[in-house]
Amino acid sequence: MEIISVNSYEEMSEKTCSMVLNKIKHLQNPVLGLATGSTPEGLYHRIIDEADDVSFRHVSTFNLDEYVGLNKEDPNSYQYYMNDKLFKHIDIPDENAHLPNGVAVDLEKECHDYERFIREAGHVDIQILGLGLNGHIGFNEPGTSFSSRTHVVDLDESTRNANARFFGSIDEVPTKAITMGIETIMESKEILLLVSGEAKAEALARLVNGEVTESFPASILQQHEHVTIIADEAALSKL
Ligand code: F6R
Repeated sequence: MEIISVNSYEEMSEKTCSMVLNKIKHLQNPVLGLATGSTPEGLYHRIIDEADDVSFRHVSTFNLDEYVGLNKEDPNSYQYYMNDKLFKHIDIPDENAHLPNGVAVDLEKECHDYERFIREAGHVDIQILGLGLNGHIGFNEPGTSFSSRTHVVDLDESTRNANARFFGSIDEVPTKAITMGIETIMESKEILLLVSGEAKAEALARLVNGEVTESFPASILQQHEHVTIIADEAALSKL
């Protein structure tokens, strides 16, 4: 694991942006794995700032997750988030930008198809990850099998609480989501984990130095061959 220490959230976003754009410029058909939440917002801003000089026409993206029951017009769906914060500002073809469909009639089939699409695209070249306070990556909550593939999950109470800030109240936060599995994430050729702020310091220390255990899903990243952690000083303060 390589750790890049930066001074601020802005620097984290800038550094990650240049790593992602570098990949896009050098690969013929790059496949990006994308995350939502607060952490990658600055990265998406940066990418948009550069969008006049970099084309995304040859890029495919796969998001980590989507809430079950929210359609793409719902401002809290991750599809809406991605359109709003990135896709509508860049020239990526609609058909290349993938998220699980949280309102699919057959959710099992949706998970299965999502796996197939990732496989057919040649797997993710560079996966962006944020870190949950309880060690979740994607929506793989503590206890998720390390051999999990894309699946439907019951969201932890702590995760619903953490995400309630985006909704009117905790009651409006969906109880289920579709997420890439841990094994799916681990098949990415390269992973960039972004961590910012003191609130994540404990979790980051456990990820780096703790036991590799399904009760702290992010600990599996210790076993990936090409992980770079880009974190600010506050997040690194307990390492
Ligand atoms: C979102 C995702 C989640 C978040 C995590 C951290 O697509 O996969 O694992 O990365 O919950 O969220 P923030 O960045 O809001 O602290």
